[in-house]
Amino acid sequence: MNIKESLLNTLAAANGGYISGAALAESLGVSRNAVWKAVKSLEAEGYAIESVTSKGYRLSESNNRLSEKLIAAHLQTKALGRELQVFDEVDSTNIAAKKLASAGAPHGTAVVADRQTMGRGRLGRTFVSPSGTGIYFTVIVRPEFSMELTPMITTAASVAVAEAVEKLCGMETQIKWVNDVYLCGKKICGILTEASLGLETQSIDYAVIGIGVNVRSVRSEFSEQLSSIASSVEDETGMILDRNILCAEIINDLEKYILSLQERTFLPEYRRRELLTGNEITASVNDQQTSGKALGIDDNANLIVEFSDGTVKHLNSGEANLCRIKK
Ligand code: BTN
Repeated sequence: MNIKESLLNTLAAANGGYISGAALAESLGVSRNAVWKAVKSLEAEGYAIESVTSKGYRLSESNNRLSEKLIAAHLQTKALGRELQVFDEVDSTNIAAKKLASAGAPHGTAVVADRQTMGRGRLGRTFVSPSGTGIYFTVIVRPEFSMELTPMITTAASVAVAEAVEKLCGMETQIKWVNDVYLCGKKICGILTEASLGLETQSIDYAVIGIGVNVRSVRSEFSEQLSSIASSVEDETGMILDRNILCAEIINDLEKYILSLQERTFLPEYRRRELLTGNEITASVNDQQTSGKALGIDDNANLIVEFSDGTVKHLNSGEANLCRIKK
């Protein structure tokens, strides 16, 4: 590790606290002048570092640079995110992750980007992914559980996002079946999970869980139409979260819920936040526009709907989409 990397690690580990130039020089085994030069070089790379004469250096709360080191400093996982690649720009982190997974990348490998030029959403939509605002990342998982549980990875991921946002901004979030996370009535996160089937084993070879969270203000980036349904944590709450910490917190929670997917520990947390439950809804079911009442979420995270003709069905995410509360 070079001086710059060690310095960044040390500043990240101090969790916003100041460390004097002398203490940094001693712990890194270099001169104070070398510390100063490394600080300047990190600043030139976009890291916001504050220096106060009597206190020393600290990573500024307004630091908005995504980095492997800063994400890793907040990870508490065994496998997820332990192999981590952070890019300034990719086409789509899901595409990048699928390439890595087919080349044999291990379980837990994560790809994070500051910007996506071809961010992909569900139903073939695009996911607007401008620089400096969101976290766009994809985690590769090589599940050991049975294939029937795979669709629930996405559901569990939405709870991981909801909990991490709540932990850092202290406000309640909601989830709209299947996996859209809402804050103050606006969508702030979308999730796209894609799986690859092993031809010989007829089981899931790997799945990539792609998560996009709008963190910093997106007002100047989103069209009027998009702004009417989607927003960001900052635009809704005025809070500026550190994207590195939020990314790490989501990955921490994701590992917890994936390890206990069989036991469905995410489910009570999901049901508690689910928005459609109890409401009259419209939906497209097997390409037919229908309406009914959302009764709740079953043990396999399917949506239970009572249709206008009295029939009750448990719908999976392949059968039903475009679910909306009736106005
Ligand atoms: C949706 O709301 O329709 C799902 C959006 C999923 C977006 C994320 S951003 C990271 C990952 N890479 C992509 O191209 N898509 C997912």
